[in-house]
Amino acid sequence: MAGIIAPSILSADYTNLERDVKIVENAGAEYLHIDIMDGSFVPAISYGPNWVKQLRPETNMTLDVHMMVVHPENFIDQFADAGADIIGVHVEATPHIHRALQMIQNRGVKAEVVINPGTPVSAIQPVLDMVDQVLVMTVNPGFGGQKFLPSTLDKISQLNTYRTMNDLNFDIEVDGGINNETIRLAYEAGANVFVAGSYVYDKKDPAAKVAQLMKLTSGSVVTD
Ligand code: DX5
Ligand code: ZN
Repeated sequence: MAGIIAPSILSADYTNLERDVKIVENAGAEYLHIDIMDGSFVPAISYGPNWVKQLRPETNMTLDVHMMVVHPENFIDQFADAGADIIGVHVEATPHIHRALQMIQNRGVKAEVVINPGTPVSAIQPVLDMVDQVLVMTVNPGFGGQKFLPSTLDKISQLNTYRTMNDLNFDIEVDGGINNETIRLAYEAGANVFVAGSYVYDKKDPAAKVAQLMKLTSGSVVTD
């Protein structure tokens, strides 16, 4: 199965947002990854539901909302109203992860649980039978442009094995430090949705970068 590429809008040029969204959409990216940061769960602040609402009519891509927010339950309705297709909540951000995921599903939105690099797979095992997607953070959340942490690969493999053994079909997404080399490691470990921010947007030609990442996760082994 071909991988899904999810460019992270965090690294786009905000003065040319519409252009940067269209470029990756036309290049074949299926998801657009949107990082919500509250200055508390993570040090940085980014944008909120109104911003997502304005972006919604600009693209047909699946809006993949990654909430790096404490008490995410307080914002789920707002992001669902704004048009999110997937909402991800960190298990570290709430004592009520099961309730938060239920709230997302009750809104008809795909529910995703997220784990930080320091959090083991066992922390989310009780909710794996109810989620549509698991996001394994491959850097510590909060900023784009960080280096991929190889210690996270084992957790991707564990999730992949658990998924097969229990006949589940959640997607496994990775986020942080994904480039033309690390994407292969994550793909081989069992991930199938790949967030990439700085690799896609920082230098020239985001469309070519998306095409390259698609090729690297299409099953045929291509390296350069
Ligand atoms: C980090 C964010 C990422 C970020 C990834 O906290 O969750 O989505 O945009 O950026 P890169 O691909 O540059 O590591
Ligand atoms: Zn993210």
